[in-house]
Amino acid sequence: MQNDFNVIVFISGRGSNLKSLVESAQHYKITHVLSNKPEAPGLSYARDCGISTCSRPRSDFSSVKEQKSWLFEQAATFRPNLIVLAGYMQIVEPEVVDSYEGKMINIHPSLLPAFPGLDTHKRALEAKVPEHGCSVHFVGHEVDGGPIIAQSKCQIDPQDNAHILASRVLELEHRLFPWVLNHIATGDIFIDSENTLVYSDTAQKEATLNDFILGTT
Ligand code: GRF
Repeated sequence: MQNDFNVIVFISGRGSNLKSLVESAQHYKITHVLSNKPEAPGLSYARDCGISTCSRPRSDFSSVKEQKSWLFEQAATFRPNLIVLAGYMQIVEPEVVDSYEGKMINIHPSLLPAFPGLDTHKRALEAKVPEHGCSVHFVGHEVDGGPIIAQSKCQIDPQDNAHILASRVLELEHRLFPWVLNHIATGDIFIDSENTLVYSDTAQKEATLNDFILGTT
């Protein structure tokens, strides 16, 4: 099938979510993978898959902000339908967020709005919450903020440590993220001009079957 829904993925590290997005791409095509870390293992994976990559080290720039500007300038030249942040560990500048309103998504390893930021698994354990999970959301101005598209959750067991919990959540991420992306590509999920998330009947039924929690419909 010809996919003309072009996606750019931003990463900073190992790229396990990128791999799940590549392996489960049905209705989208990942055209480029960009990174602030030229040594990111996910970039090697992308190249092995024949996907174009784009990265320059921080030392090439006078500031992190300049490096980010360059990366997003490159992204714009590729004219993506959607930008996907998959473990991209930099804060996106407000003007970039504005220019990709409804066209940039992120995955975060917590049940947002709980635990934005880093060390989510450790913090969830310390807070003794009964459940944890992951969220896919449109990117907003706050760190890990913006309209939540879908979430997947798991129980926290008494014997869990941060490592065990992170593995369990990562499995959820690898199912949830491609599901959301495929449904955005088909138009089964979108955000309208009033910032309301819209889900087709198919998306709603599949979400129920998969135990995914959808944002406000
Ligand atoms: C994932 O847990 C993702 O939710 C978070 O960063 C991690 C990236 O992992 N934003 P990977 O590089 O996709 O393996």
